[in-house]
Amino acid sequence: MNAVDSLCYDLVVPQKIVFGWGRRREIGPLARSLGRRAFLICGSPALLESGAIGQITAWVEKEEVQTLFLETLVHEPEVADVDRVTGRLREIGLRAGDFILAIGGGTAIDLGKAVAAMATEDQSPTVKDYLEGVGRDLKLLRDPLPVFAMPTTSGTGAEATRNAVISSYDPPFKKSLRSEKILPRIALIDPQLTVSVPPAVTAASGMDAITQLLESFISRKAQPIPQALCVEGLRRALPAIAEAVENPQSRPAREAMAHAAVLSGIALANSGLGMAHGVAAALGVHCRVSHGAACALMLPVALEVNRRACQAELAWLSRELFPGTAGPEQAVDALIAEISALCDRVGVPRRLSQVGVTREQIPAIARDSRGSSMSGNPRELTSEELAEILFGIF
Ligand SMILES: [Fe+2]
Repeated sequence: MNAVDSLCYDLVVPQKIVFGWGRRREIGPLARSLGRRAFLICGSPALLESGAIGQITAWVEKEEVQTLFLETLVHEPEVADVDRVTGRLREIGLRAGDFILAIGGGTAIDLGKAVAAMATEDQSPTVKDYLEGVGRDLKLLRDPLPVFAMPTTSGTGAEATRNAVISSYDPPFKKSLRSEKILPRIALIDPQLTVSVPPAVTAASGMDAITQLLESFISRKAQPIPQALCVEGLRRALPAIAEAVENPQSRPAREAMAHAAVLSGIALANSGLGMAHGVAAALGVHCRVSHGAACALMLPVALEVNRRACQAELAWLSRELFPGTAGPEQAVDALIAEISALCDRVGVPRRLSQVGVTREQIPAIARDSRGSSMSGNPRELTSEELAEILFGIF
């Protein structure tokens, strides 16, 4: 493997990661270590209705940390959501010891990170001006509110990343607010919270994590520690995802997927991503394809497209994961075949036409796939080449 020619790197991770089945019960003292008042952002109405969130806030309040409910969001956060929720927080008024408690999937955690930043900034009233490549490209000047992240799905790894993905549909873009300052201070990951996630979401979010592990492993910006984490994450996730989909109560499968997801977050935050995520962003804003489904759909073709540009890395990885495979060509064939079979087994979409994309939309999707994720892709692709690839999986 020669992805890293010389050892020289930075590594950013949350200050504290607390992982384990049932460990949500430990939230009180952890929350108390961040402040005295928690603004709650929730991404799971099901957990609210079941009383799980109420139980969590009771544990927090027992440690004399006040909780103030701010928002429940079920769609991927948009510019207007961030601006609206920030406005509500400002109306309440900030004081020392405030922090954001985000409980949910990537949606809630990314909204939490963006609101935490915007709450203390005063250069612009809209988050749009802070997003990469749109607006005024402002940088955060103030320290955001601390973020406490508690994922309830196993996918995006947002609990360990330093960006918040924010969408707009008019004009269409999906861009990041990116700063080390918004990396969650504490990530409390209790895989038991994921047992109520429905099979289709388990499949799509799990394939998102697997895509993140594979794309950051072969990224042009790959780093040695994240690469080691990718191998660990893939070793756990590949045998577990189908079990998590087919047997939602399986503790080992849910633990493996939650672990793989946080590792994928660390990996992508430090190594970047690639083509599958680049196209997924465009599919999200042009066709409202959910992030996980879009990544799952793109992963096999992204591996095929990149195999010549990173054959040694993919062959090495394949032999680590599936010992016994022969030469490099066969090893890469085996890896792509395994991923493809897994996509079929967990029932994620395989063609663009299955997720509502029309042929006419493909040139615009190709054009708008060139965000920061694409900059890590091993193979350089023109918009025309990308459009051709997309027509091939229509
Ligand atoms: Fe992702």
